[in-house]
Amino acid sequence: MVRPLDDALAEVRALLLDPGLTRAVAAGRRRGQVPSVVRAEVRPVTLKGGTRLQIVTNDGARPHTRNVVPGPEAGAAVDALLAEPFGNWHVETADATVQLRVTKKGEAQVHRAAADRPAEPEAHDRAKEYLLEPGDPLFDAIGGNAAKRRQVDAFLRALAASVSPLPERLRVVDLGCGNAYLTFAAYRYLAGQGVDVDVVGVDVREDQRRRNTELAERLGCADRVRFVAGTIADAEVDFQPDLVLALHACDTATDEALARAVRWEAQWVLAAPCCHHDIAAQLRGTGLPSRTRCSPGRASSASASRTSSPTRCVRVCSACAVTRSRWWSSSTPATRRATCCSAPAARTRRRLRRSARSTRGWWPSGA
Ligand SMILES: C[S@@+](CC[C@H](N)C(=O)[O-])C[C@H]1O[C@@H](n2cnc3c(N)ncnc32)[C@H](O)[C@@H]1O
Repeated sequence: MVRPLDDALAEVRALLLDPGLTRAVAAGRRRGQVPSVVRAEVRPVTLKGGTRLQIVTNDGARPHTRNVVPGPEAGAAVDALLAEPFGNWHVETADATVQLRVTKKGEAQVHRAAADRPAEPEAHDRAKEYLLEPGDPLFDAIGGNAAKRRQVDAFLRALAASVSPLPERLRVVDLGCGNAYLTFAAYRYLAGQGVDVDVVGVDVREDQRRRNTELAERLGCADRVRFVAGTIADAEVDFQPDLVLALHACDTATDEALARAVRWEAQWVLAAPCCHHDIAAQLRGTGLPSRTRCSPGRASSASASRTSSPTRCVRVCSACAVTRSRWWSSSTPATRRATCCSAPAARTRRRLRRSARSTRGWWPSGA
């Protein structure tokens, strides 16, 4: 919803000073203006002397923290922050999450969603910090079970570690986006950090495109988060992305994603592959046993009684379902590594290696 900026900032002020505040972040900048700090974070904390409003500002070099007493002192500190020409405010309270973005015309685009968790003043020794809390109201809209929420948060951590410091402007493509958990979460995280961000989710399924577009409209971010139906190799995206994401793109789709990212000359690629069906099918075609039950006795007697050879090793490894599965899943990255090392251009090799290194779990060490 677009509203006059002063009205929307007055609402943000009331939320920041309300005891129900959980956390708020201000970042980004308005057209033609520069705030005195890059980012500000406001949250209630419980100290020995009682509840305080903690304000952490970052001038781009280092954070500066102060804890102000609720009342006139907090009011003055909040007014000073609201006077800064930040481009975005993201406010979480016990009841709602409010996102304010200042448009190019200087108006406020406000999105409000209900919160689903109670807020408490945070102690300093919190058990775990998420980049996007599993209880974030965004997940109410987009769905996803606890494992998917943790997976998305882990991916955002990889993103935050790789794209650091965050640039002011980012164009992102999520290849094989499926239900777009990561697409929306990446938008939410980056916009919350004040990045001027556009995201396009690509999936081969037209029904996913329709569903995800409707969701973006409901969430009020359809101008910034768009969806295209098409293949990873050929889908039409109307910008050249800086950052390419691919989370669990099926089978060899991860390889297509890496290739597309290189063709786009994307600065960053974060890819976490899914399964290893393609290589498994090829290994099945070799005539090696694929469904034999695990039998350690047989495997050890086979290796002890005959001279070791690569073929026999392969046969022994294939005899155990668990070993077979692990072996296949490490053959996939090994093949990617071999492909990458034989890639003709040094720049392409460097890009693939960089993308691979930033993705935990599938790149053999020392690559
Ligand atoms: C396992 S889902 C992962 C979805 C999402 N990235 C996530 O992690 O929740 C893989 C998605 O990739 C899509 N996909 C697979 N191969 C593709 C291709 N070549 N081009 C476009 N989409 C593809 C599928 O339709 C599916 O929605």
